[in-house]
Amino acid sequence: MKRIVVLVSGGGTNLQALIDAQKSGIIKNGEITLVISSKEGAYALERAEKNGIATKVLPRKDYPDSAGYSKAILEALNEEKADLVVLAGFMTILDECIVKAYPYKMINVHPALIPSFCGEGYYGLKVHEAALSYGVKVSGATVHFVNEQADAGAIILQKAVAVENGDTPEILQKRIMEQAEWKILPEAVSLYCQDKIKIVDGKAVVDR
Ligand code: GAR
Repeated sequence: MKRIVVLVSGGGTNLQALIDAQKSGIIKNGEITLVISSKEGAYALERAEKNGIATKVLPRKDYPDSAGYSKAILEALNEEKADLVVLAGFMTILDECIVKAYPYKMINVHPALIPSFCGEGYYGLKVHEAALSYGVKVSGATVHFVNEQADAGAIILQKAVAVENGDTPEILQKRIMEQAEWKILPEAVSLYCQDKIKIVDGKAVVDR
């Protein structure tokens, strides 16, 4: 069984999708052993507690810089003996000490089709605001490995979702969560835990 640590900052609907997938047996050969939140009082923490999953709060605001914060997260991951780290709505950029310690062992869900509407400054509703302001007719979600640059690691899974007339950022966010994120994130975690993702020439080759 691979030990999965999930990093969260907010509502935790993607964490909930992972918990539901774990309960229904969709995640094979993996178990969420710890949820770490960068914010006190995040609803994601309640979701974990309700399901008997250990939690830890490491508030970003308690650390003066990203390096110090990343070191604290790294210590927690090492202590937990994490095999896989999942960023599920984690709104803090971690520095490269973590990426170096967990190469191709850390994945992120992003609410757009990378390489569109991604990188520094594109997170949460801002991503959907940008997609609507550009006028794209299709958006979606991407699960990818985390590397040294924001949203630039090897892509594992993507799913497209239609943009509809009259969409607001909130409506589009909800549709992308329901139709894409909550499906491809648990699937990617399960594939990872079953060793069905290989890296070839820096790209992820997935045996679905
Ligand atoms: C999700 O849409 C996730 O893809 C996005 O924030 C939301 C978190 O929701 N993440 C990013 O924008 C990271 N760049 P949740 O807390 O309900 O899972």
